[in-house]
Amino acid sequence: MAKAKVKTAYVCSDCGADFAKWQGQCGACQAWNTLSRVSVGPIKEAHIGFAGTKAQIKKLGDVETQEAPRIPTPFAELDRVLGGGLVPGSVVLMGGDPGAGKSTLLLQVCTQLAKERGVLYVTGEESLQQLAMRAQRLELPMDGLDVAAETRAEVIASHIELNRPEIVVLDSVQVLQMESIDSTPGSVTQVRETAGFFTRLAKQTDTVVILVGHITKEGGLAGPKVLEHMIDTFVMLDSPAGSRYRTLRGNKNRFGAVNELGVFAMTDVGMKEVANPSAIFLQRGETDSPGSIATVTWEGTRPLLVEIQALVDEVAAGYPKRVAVGLDHQRLAMHLAVLHRHCGITLGDQDVFANVVGGVRIQETGADLALLLAVLSSFRDRILPRDLIVFGELGLTGELRPVANGQERLREAAKHGFKQAIVPYANRPKYKLPGMRVHGVQNLSAALEILSQF
Ligand code: TYD
Ligand code: MG
Repeated sequence: MAKAKVKTAYVCSDCGADFAKWQGQCGACQAWNTLSRVSVGPIKEAHIGFAGTKAQIKKLGDVETQEAPRIPTPFAELDRVLGGGLVPGSVVLMGGDPGAGKSTLLLQVCTQLAKERGVLYVTGEESLQQLAMRAQRLELPMDGLDVAAETRAEVIASHIELNRPEIVVLDSVQVLQMESIDSTPGSVTQVRETAGFFTRLAKQTDTVVILVGHITKEGGLAGPKVLEHMIDTFVMLDSPAGSRYRTLRGNKNRFGAVNELGVFAMTDVGMKEVANPSAIFLQRGETDSPGSIATVTWEGTRPLLVEIQALVDEVAAGYPKRVAVGLDHQRLAMHLAVLHRHCGITLGDQDVFANVVGGVRIQETGADLALLLAVLSSFRDRILPRDLIVFGELGLTGELRPVANGQERLREAAKHGFKQAIVPYANRPKYKLPGMRVHGVQNLSAALEILSQF
């Protein structure tokens, strides 16, 4: 038999698809300039007739369905995003920009968990001395945690097999290296192979493996998509520019709901959880200005109050701009069309900018009405009442559609001192809310009619 040759392939760093030839655009995910060359090891020739090999096949009914108990972390906000704690034998990828606080958060988690369990923290980025100094400064319990400064995957794996820790943190996946693979650390091939290697190990040994990845929102080197299909849970730690608050969001979770939001603050004694996120995201300045409105969005299992701001200004040059930060661009364009068609208000010669304050990203339609009213408020230079809260989804015929959890949203707003609300008719409260006047409206024109009476 001829000796199998090492071949070259081109792998997309965004989606992991591979191609025999280089091309400027990935044929699978259409991203540009993401293909890079990798060496593919010899592949075993395909065989047929494995008569002697036994696969482990069971009747579906015989499969053990009892879930292993989850391991709670010291942070309720983290547990919420994980869907109720760490699942033994699962792999969690924690992504985020460098400096977001991944190492700090995980060191806090590990030192606490190590009081009662076997926990290994592997750092390939910092020295052990740096790690110990940080733990000391944060006054974390230091006795129980095993630490290693190691980047060789095989060495780490043999330690895990021998010592069987319950939880292993690998900080970061970009510096790990499988010696059997001829590719530099951080390259698509290395990241993909080491992640796959530790995923198999996690399943075999029932260990929780937490991979840290420097992943920017744009994807960056060896983007999350390369790993997404093998890991169980992918959480992103976001650090909005200039803010000390950090949001942790579940982007994929085999063991719980996605889109749960956890909120932390980076303080001088490490990461602290924020128990009442509405209070921080809704810190508004002293003076009221046009273009600002409060809404209550739904994040996973709880309401969150946020401020939406808009700025409408005459087109400076060229085409009118429509920019939405933290909100869906296309919805903004759609709303402007609805405004034109159903209310006769045209913004064709205006630039429109919208932003969710505090770096929150809203991924549901409940913010539609707030977005539109913020835009109108800026356009007409009219200040909206500070104690007004609105929510609701806008349909293409100008109707206001109800959103899920309307009652809880209203209660959260009332709790934070809002006195009046404009909401979809079907979301109006069944019983009177103390201290709050709620207008239930069927469509956008009715909402504008109520606003004109303020
Ligand atoms: P780090 O956890 O190292 O980030 P990552 O691992 O995601 O790259 O956090 C680094 C940043 O956090 C750094 O800018 C300093 C800041 N920091 C604090 O503000 N307070 C603290 O107690 C610690 C440990 C870090
Ligand atoms: Mg780090």
